[in-house]
Amino acid sequence: MYDNNPTLTGIKKEIDETKQGQVFYQEKPLENGAENSNGKHFYIESYGCQMNFSDSEIVASILSEVGFQPTRALEEADLILVNTCSIREKAEETVRKRLRIFDKIKRQRPGTMVGVLGCMAERLKSKFLEEEKLVDIVIGPDAYRDLPNLVAGAEEGERGVNVLLSREETYADISPMRLDSNGVSAFISIMRGCNNMCSFCVVPFTRGRERSRDCFSIVSEAQDLYDRGYREVTLLGQNVDSYHWQNPENEQVVNFATLLEMVAQVHPDLRVRFSTSHPKDITDEVLHTMARYENICKYIHLPVQSGNSVVLERMNRTYDREWYMERVQAIYRIIPECAISSDIIAGFCGEQEHEHQETVSMVEWANYSMSYMFFYSERPGTLAARKYPDDVPMDVKKRRLQEIVNMQNQVSLRHNKADVGKTFKVLIEGDSKKSDKEFKGRNSQNKMIVFPKLDNLKPGDYAWVKVTGATSATLIGEISFP
Ligand code: SAH
Ligand code: SF4
Ligand code: F3S
Repeated sequence: MYDNNPTLTGIKKEIDETKQGQVFYQEKPLENGAENSNGKHFYIESYGCQMNFSDSEIVASILSEVGFQPTRALEEADLILVNTCSIREKAEETVRKRLRIFDKIKRQRPGTMVGVLGCMAERLKSKFLEEEKLVDIVIGPDAYRDLPNLVAGAEEGERGVNVLLSREETYADISPMRLDSNGVSAFISIMRGCNNMCSFCVVPFTRGRERSRDCFSIVSEAQDLYDRGYREVTLLGQNVDSYHWQNPENEQVVNFATLLEMVAQVHPDLRVRFSTSHPKDITDEVLHTMARYENICKYIHLPVQSGNSVVLERMNRTYDREWYMERVQAIYRIIPECAISSDIIAGFCGEQEHEHQETVSMVEWANYSMSYMFFYSERPGTLAARKYPDDVPMDVKKRRLQEIVNMQNQVSLRHNKADVGKTFKVLIEGDSKKSDKEFKGRNSQNKMIVFPKLDNLKPGDYAWVKVTGATSATLIGEISFP
């Protein structure tokens, strides 16, 4: 659920997390900006998963309603917001470092307001105001509608907290302000919260109970995006397979397979992706739906976390190695061209060497196209923190992580090399990082392909690209049919 670059290993990711969040801005001014504007600007930086990035777009929309306009220039901001992540200790450290910098700005420009949003706000609540003296607003993921009130209070010098979690809030009626967008792909949140209790995970505490969003509002958001030129939507939830929405009018229940089909029917040229699937919940019905629609991308992020059944039990993942392998086999059987990726935690409480080796072997067996890999970071208040000692020494965690990363790199290279000579339908996202003479885009399997431009093509177009070369990170190709 992070960056989509297949080179991104857990180690690199940890570095990235400390280096930067992503700055959101909108290239064009708001359409109604002039009449609605209060002359003030907000700046928002986001950390963590796609859900957080998606939430920042909801926050931007809420703020624009009360006249604030987005800016990417910190020095222009009247309101500085940071949407935070608590998933690992490093993620929280990064945010604290950023807050030090915002403190300096605030001292130089009194009157600038600083707000902390998201999972860390939810976890630390009012402690934040005690610990970080210059923070004005602390607001949790379910309380964003209250942001204008808290901002108004902050303008009067009041420091405010709202970290109430909700059982209903889905922000279904709020049309997200697409920020920092390539105009081609967008996220759509389909549910919030999580009812699983993976013992290592802080998300159920920071995001509250699981709830699903009205399917019709999801479809109309997808339709609207398509009408505005977008060609790819990613349906977001911590556990999309447990999507469950009951129509209050006729009591009919919509599950994830049905929702996928509804979104796929918006237009054959609108690609549909989703994240994250939970191995215990992904059904054959979903797999058959994927197989039936060309525009549902043949890519599943199916985090295994560990390849060993005993560790999985301590993690409270509620599946074992055999169950997971059966699900992987079902995917490859029903959708032979599907790519699978994973999240993996090295060095969880009590993990033995042979248990770790089963994780390494799983990477190879499942043939992941890529994985996000992390070493275990104990989170206060979680089941694991209460129940199991964090007893794998740091050097062992790091060594095991490196072994998993090495195996994944080999498997990714093998996976990519197997694509050389094949031709894929690629959705063009924009210029490649290295050259404006090249485009980058993804195939259905979510692999980035870089290829020389042709004049008549532009971002948002599809092209047929033949793969001519591969590294463990990227495919290189040439257009075979525009
Ligand atoms: N809902 C998703 C995961 C969301 S968190 C799922 O169930 O797969 C993203 C990833 O962060 C997790 O898959 C896990 O690999 C990692 N993660 C979560 N808590 C962690 C912790 N305490 N230490 C290290 N990694 C963790
Ligand atoms: Fe965390 Fe597990 Fe929920 Fe994923 S499914 S968010 S890992 S508790
Ligand atoms: Fe996402 Fe981090 Fe929260 S991964 S749900 S932003 S703890």
